[in-house]
Amino acid sequence: MKNQIKFISFVVAGGFFLASCEGPMGPAGQDGLPGVDANETCKECHNPTVVEVAATQFELSKHHYGEAAFEEAGNTTCTPCHTSDAFRYVSKNNTPATFTLNATTGKYANDYVTNAANTIGDISCFTCHSSLHTTYEGSDFGPLTWNKAVSMTMWKGTKSIDVTPDGGSSNLCIKCHQPRPLTTSSTLSNGDVVDYNSLATSPNTVFYDAAVGNAAPNKVIPSYRTHVHYGTAGAVYAGKGGVEFTGSQTYTNTAHTAGASCQDCHMAPVTGRAGGHTFTAKGNFNGCNATGCHSGVSATSSTFWVNPRNEIKTLLNNLATKINKVGQDAAAKDILHSDSNAETNLWAGLTTGNFDGYLNIYDPSTNPGGVWRNPAPAGSWSADAKALNLTLPVFPTLKNVVMGSMINFQFCLRDYSLGIHNFKYTKALLTNSIEAMTTAGY
Ligand code: HEC
Ligand code: HEC
Ligand code: HEC
Ligand code: HEC
Ligand code: HEC
Repeated sequence: MKNQIKFISFVVAGGFFLASCEGPMGPAGQDGLPGVDANETCKECHNPTVVEVAATQFELSKHHYGEAAFEEAGNTTCTPCHTSDAFRYVSKNNTPATFTLNATTGKYANDYVTNAANTIGDISCFTCHSSLHTTYEGSDFGPLTWNKAVSMTMWKGTKSIDVTPDGGSSNLCIKCHQPRPLTTSSTLSNGDVVDYNSLATSPNTVFYDAAVGNAAPNKVIPSYRTHVHYGTAGAVYAGKGGVEFTGSQTYTNTAHTAGASCQDCHMAPVTGRAGGHTFTAKGNFNGCNATGCHSGVSATSSTFWVNPRNEIKTLLNNLATKINKVGQDAAAKDILHSDSNAETNLWAGLTTGNFDGYLNIYDPSTNPGGVWRNPAPAGSWSADAKALNLTLPVFPTLKNVVMGSMINFQFCLRDYSLGIHNFKYTKALLTNSIEAMTTAGY
């Protein structure tokens, strides 16, 4: 891509421009855009200070170097958040995040999918800047692909998020950086979304009964990857998406939610390898210290960095201990999966136990070291894997309070920021979960 841009710069500089412009791009100046000199307008963007700067920064963005767009290509369910064509498709068509019941099968399906013709494409400039190469003028950068309220897929579209500062540009990020729905089994149940309200209001009801195992009335069979996916930051930021147990803390948001945007911190002026179109906030305090926000914030500031992050880390540690007590009581083993390798655990170091939000249930391909028996071994497993599974202890019964606490633990851990996004909401979810677990005897 970089080579192509250099080529364009050369073409423009060499004055061959109009000849090269008669192809599919269309001669902008002759196409109902009087007064537009294509040669000049290309240069509004194709110059070292505009496209090239952003493109160079973008090489350091996981949107660019990550493998998810490649790995999930072709999948109509995954690609609305993982590939360019699919994201543009669901944005343009305002694809609803609802779930629809299929009257024939009696099963629910999420409507937030792309169509088969739009499942590929790496995340690029064109993913977020919807109008590039339409008028071929500098203003084509203006419109973002999405800035309206985001209908949340985890809530079947019954709740939405609207972070309005900076023209709603955060909603662009949140449309992808939102949790995925936690659904019930479509064989044992109807595939509908797990009802978070009932988890919070009936904490002592059994959610998963170990004596029943892989059969109804169990609706969700715990596995290594029983989770709310990775992109929780947008929902934490907006203060929506946790299991809201009643407790000593009320659910409110910090000033960031109403007053700041993702770009304020994640696209702040570059320092080191963060900021701008790298989209990462790691090690960049320029956003915190912008006019009208804070001053003097750094990695050693106690009030705005060290103390709040330590407080959330301690709450995560304490909640993990409560959740693990369920396993310790049953067979003297933790139920949360732990991994200290920062290459494989994106959240290594955020808790003392290096948890990643997965459950330590055996699976021959995804978690071969798992210490708990998989309640639903696949028919395709080898005989050895099936035999090994049977030597492991039975995964314990989970009450609603435990399931809800596990969801909240994942949700707050995978937000990455240890409370910087939304300290009050994170603190309330974790504190009230710990209290609910204590009341339930853990
Ligand atoms: C609004 C800014 C803007 C304007 C104006 C603009 N471009 Fe681009 N162009 C881009 C961006 C952004 C990219 C993608 C760069 C990247 O991916 O690194 C791009 C990429 C390209 C590419 C590489 C192939 C592709 O489509 O990704 C070509 C060729 C190109 N532009 C030609 C032109 C020509 C010719 C004009 C003028 C008629 C023009 N551009 C005007 C922003 C612009
Ligand atoms: C089209 C969906 C989409 C949009 C829009 C989007 N992201 Fe992402 N983002 C992703 C995906 C997918 C990944 C992970 C990519 C991978 O691992 O291959 C990611 C990764 C990231 C990461 C790196 C996380 C890490 O593990 O280091 C940051 C930071 C980030 N995005 C911030 C943002 C911000 C800020 C915005 C809005 C300006 C935004 N994203 C818009 C889908 C999106
Ligand atoms: C609602 C949007 C959304 C959907 C749908 C979605 N993902 Fe993701 N996924 C994300 C985001 C955002 C990230 C990156 C989050 C971060 O790092 O903060 C991500 C990260 C990932 C990662 C981790 C990449 C890494 O950096 O290690 C994998 C693997 C993944 N997704 C697989 C899938 C699969 C498989 C599906 C479909 C079954 C899917 N995703 C559907 C939003 C989504
Ligand atoms: C993940 C989404 C995302 C991707 C990918 C992305 N941008 Fe952006 N870009 C943004 C957002 C958000 C802004 C801030 C918009 C604003 O200021 O309102 C922005 C702003 C810009 C601006 C300033 C525009 C203006 O009107 O001042 C330029 C130039 C730009 N981007 C170029 C690029 C180029 C070149 C690429 C590809 C290498 C790219 N962007 C990829 C989200 C994205
Ligand atoms: C007030 C500043 C601030 C705002 C606003 C903000 N973030 Fe963050 N974000 C952070 C900090 C700080 C981290 C943790 C960086 C670190 O690990 O050192 C972070 C981490 C992340 C990460 C993963 C790590 C990385 O590479 O930065 C993602 C993804 C992310 N935020 C997404 C978002 C999204 C989406 C929004 C908007 C809904 C947002 N953030 C708004 C400060 C902010």
